[in-house]
Amino acid sequence: MIQRTLLMIKPDGVRLRVTGDVISRIERKGLHIVRIKKTVFTEDLAKKFYQEHSSKPFFSDLVKFITSGEVVAIEVEGENSVRIVRQLIGPTNSAEAPPGTIRGDYSTSVQENIVHASDTPENATRELSLVFEHQ
Ligand code: RTP
Ligand code: MG
Repeated sequence: MIQRTLLMIKPDGVRLRVTGDVISRIERKGLHIVRIKKTVFTEDLAKKFYQEHSSKPFFSDLVKFITSGEVVAIEVEGENSVRIVRQLIGPTNSAEAPPGTIRGDYSTSVQENIVHASDTPENATRELSLVFEHQ
């Protein structure tokens, strides 16, 4: 099934200048880039975006981190793109992410893990409208 998903370079990834490489990896994989937006998350957007984690102990650190600088949001389209993009980024904990994945290649941190990608088609729809419809 053709799906759309959100792949987003987090503030640590933007500071590390991985934007070009991440875009390259999407293209190399044969996925289609629909639109790209550079923005900064407000605290309000961060809390909505990560609402599923609101009761976790790392929530306030996560909000601080995601609002700490610019992000680059990429809307990606393709057959099974939600699952495929999650495979490209690797598991949440970069220390355990295999080499060849984005997190495996650029980070050893569980929080500062370079990129975000939607984990279900429903979350993709929700996240795409949150990120692309705020100012
Ligand atoms: P993401 O939502 O950013 O794509 O990452 P994910 O699905 O792989 O991980 P998730 O469980 O949704 O966690 C969201 C983000 O919260 C930070 N985190 N910190 N300190 C911690 O133990 C911890 N656990 C998660 C990470 O930035 C993670 O990507
Ligand atoms: Mg997640």
